[in-house]
Amino acid sequence: MRCPDEPVVPSTSRRSFMKYASMFAAAPVLGEAHFANAARMAAGGGKAGAFSLGPTATPEDAVLINANENPLGPCKAACEAISAMAPHGGRYDLYGYEEQLTKTFAGQHGLKPENVMVYAGSSEPLHYTVLAYTGPKKGLVIADPTYEAAGYAAMASGAGVFKVKLADDYSHDMKAMVAADPNAGVIYICNPNNPTGTITAKKDIVWALENKPKGSILLVDEAYIHLSDGEDVIDQVAAGKDIIVLRTFSKVYGMAGIRCGMALGRPDLLKKLMRYGMNPMVVTGAVAAEVSLRDADLVPTRKKIIGDVRVDTISWLKQNNYKVIGDSQSNCFMVDTGRPGKGVIAAMQAKNVYIGRTWPIWPNAVRISVGSKEEMAKFKVAFKQVMDAPAAPVVAENEMPMTRDGVVLG
Ligand SMILES: Cc1ncc(COP(=O)(O)O)c(C=O)c1O
Repeated sequence: MRCPDEPVVPSTSRRSFMKYASMFAAAPVLGEAHFANAARMAAGGGKAGAFSLGPTATPEDAVLINANENPLGPCKAACEAISAMAPHGGRYDLYGYEEQLTKTFAGQHGLKPENVMVYAGSSEPLHYTVLAYTGPKKGLVIADPTYEAAGYAAMASGAGVFKVKLADDYSHDMKAMVAADPNAGVIYICNPNNPTGTITAKKDIVWALENKPKGSILLVDEAYIHLSDGEDVIDQVAAGKDIIVLRTFSKVYGMAGIRCGMALGRPDLLKKLMRYGMNPMVVTGAVAAEVSLRDADLVPTRKKIIGDVRVDTISWLKQNNYKVIGDSQSNCFMVDTGRPGKGVIAAMQAKNVYIGRTWPIWPNAVRISVGSKEEMAKFKVAFKQVMDAPAAPVVAENEMPMTRDGVVLG
């Protein structure tokens, strides 16, 4: 996520500093699908850094554990709601489905409807928050490693990006993050973190909220919170603090391709996001999300299914002396392969098992998403074969280089 010609200031003991040279023009909203595809195409010998969604076709029997998706898909009630809504898709929002979803979510979480803004996924509000609250004089503080989207958005706002290494227990080092940039605009916290799946304690996030630089906001991304025992921070929104919380229906609710996400915050904070995009909500996504929220068993049932598969896979890895990084409570985790991770990704891909990407700070580590039991059984076989063989050569970079005008080099 670094421009080819940008200056990089050497890291200090706990943090590294990365500053983009100047203002950048608009950059596209990039998300997990783009990052995963770029890595996949690069590992397959394709052009590095292509961000378009095509060509995306993978062999039918491919094991897809590269994009933190949910193999369970939308729940039954959501599928029925989508089918019932399809014939009405000629209208934008005939009976106020988005409003109904907003009310249901707000009611369940002790918020007012004006604290909730619905989007077709959480990528848009993530991007817009960074655009709205960072700039050449207002930096973005992120953990390292973490989900890349905020860093990419900062290319468009021209903000300096301050990367702070995760703490020894792989939580966000909130003290170092708060101290990283006295002029910070946004401190981004992904909880549980993508890619490590590790948790940051609520008390540490609340401490950061009380001690952050004046004028900054916390952006807490709770995309994976349902899969963990971590505590959410929605009560801080209700308390009117300087915080925006992101939620998505792409993970536990299995609706990545259906699309629904939310930004939660004080109305005055959310208002600033509007100037960057106001796309009408997809009606199928709105009704599917609403019925999913009404299913009280969905989250605990799926948390257990995904958690059991994660625990089984990680136990197998540890029994076989592979090094798993941190204690994931999510649908992904990192494995230190002890060799260039990009070579491992390519070798796995040659066996039709698509695993996740590497992060520059840990070039030997690869992210594994938790798939179905059957998928993880195939993963185990392929991973052992790959690791038993000599290290494969790295065929291409899998990061997504960008030009200054926000266009990814193809
Ligand atoms: C941490 C995090 N935030 C946000 C998103 C964006 O998801 P979506 O736009 O599908 O809601 C993802 C996707 O993987 C993610 O990992």
